[in-house]
Amino acid sequence: MDAIAVTRDDRTPRVVDVPRPDPGPGEALVRTLRIGVDGTDHEVIAGDHGGFPEGDDHLVLGHEAVGVVEDPNGTGLKAGQVVAPTVRRPPNGNNEYFRRGEPDMAPGGEYVERGIDGAHGFMAEYFTSPADHLVPVPDALADLGFLVEPASITEKALELAFAARSSFGWTPDSALVLGNGSLGLLTLAMLDARDDFESLYCLGRRDRPDPTIDVVDRLGGTYVDSRETPVPDVPAVHEPVDFVYEATGHAKHAFETIEALAPNGVGALLGVPEAGWEFEVAGSDLHRELVLENKALVGSVNSNVDHFEAAVDALRALPEWVFDDLVTGVYELEAFRRAFDDDETTIKTAVQFDTQ
Ligand code: NAP
Ligand code: BGC
Ligand code: ZN
Repeated sequence: MDAIAVTRDDRTPRVVDVPRPDPGPGEALVRTLRIGVDGTDHEVIAGDHGGFPEGDDHLVLGHEAVGVVEDPNGTGLKAGQVVAPTVRRPPNGNNEYFRRGEPDMAPGGEYVERGIDGAHGFMAEYFTSPADHLVPVPDALADLGFLVEPASITEKALELAFAARSSFGWTPDSALVLGNGSLGLLTLAMLDARDDFESLYCLGRRDRPDPTIDVVDRLGGTYVDSRETPVPDVPAVHEPVDFVYEATGHAKHAFETIEALAPNGVGALLGVPEAGWEFEVAGSDLHRELVLENKALVGSVNSNVDHFEAAVDALRALPEWVFDDLVTGVYELEAFRRAFDDDETTIKTAVQFDTQ
């Protein structure tokens, strides 16, 4: 069957021929519909993040998947059910994190990530998965089911951030999303659909006209250009914000988030920066501010089945135009390379293997 992969000696994504997988005990066979592409895929392709499965010279890409159960193989799933797979799997049999349903909290060495780190991804005509890692998606969302995984990333980050403020009467009404990439904009739309936030900001580094800034405008958010208003200036130019969601992968933003926050605020850090960049920060000032103003920062990676289920509900609450504007291209195998374009007209893309 066809799959899209990179190899150790050539990191350009291309179509390779791999055997169609057979489901093992407890696994179902899934026919792939669509696979999304995000910043992490670009980092994997560039060799900045993740790695090849042990002993293999290729890595099948893709971790944002939606498909249809082709062979339930005795699991509780039904043939024809639309599903989205979670990303992490245990490397050597089960471990406590997976047994608890919390693979997203597993430390390095206790997981592999399909399509990213140590395990083949879903960018192929078929894939297999343990049934308990396949989350049902309503038929009406089949075309957009590749957005369940990224939306689940935000559901987890929000859960961690709100939990960090759960011991007192926290009533956030302003939020700043750092990054106008696909994750940042999807998150801005998800925040807009919640009741919590009256003012929303989104930070980028682009000139108008730009399709990502159009989405910010259409959501009623305020676009912040980081070249004119760096993150620490947001409180003076706009307002101190209760919640920051960092999705740039720009390492300075992790620390500058502290300065953008209002007292009692919380910042969720999602970006995965390139390793090795060293820079100075005003350490004691930031430390004082975190302590004396009860601020919090939480790092968040990956997501579990509960977050996928919450993500399905969150996507259903978004207006249709958000998807029309965010998904700038869905490409069949013949044109799959365009799904990896990274220009300023591209927001979110997917590769389509089949239709429902
Ligand atoms: P992306 O498409 O590369 O988006 C990053 C955005 O940040 C881009 O639009 C970029 O602007 C903007 N940006 C970068 N540096 C900036 C700066 N200094 N000032 C203003 N804007 C800046 O990636 P993505 O898919 O949205 O993902 C965002 C980040 O989250 C990535 O680092 C990714 O690895 C990470 N991620 C983490 C998780 C997790 O589980 N923690 C899950 C998914 C993704 P330009 O386009 O103009 O360059
Ligand atoms: C994926 C997560 C993964 C993270 C780190 C993200 O793009 O959506 O599932 O845990 O990258 O590899
Ligand atoms: Zn991702």
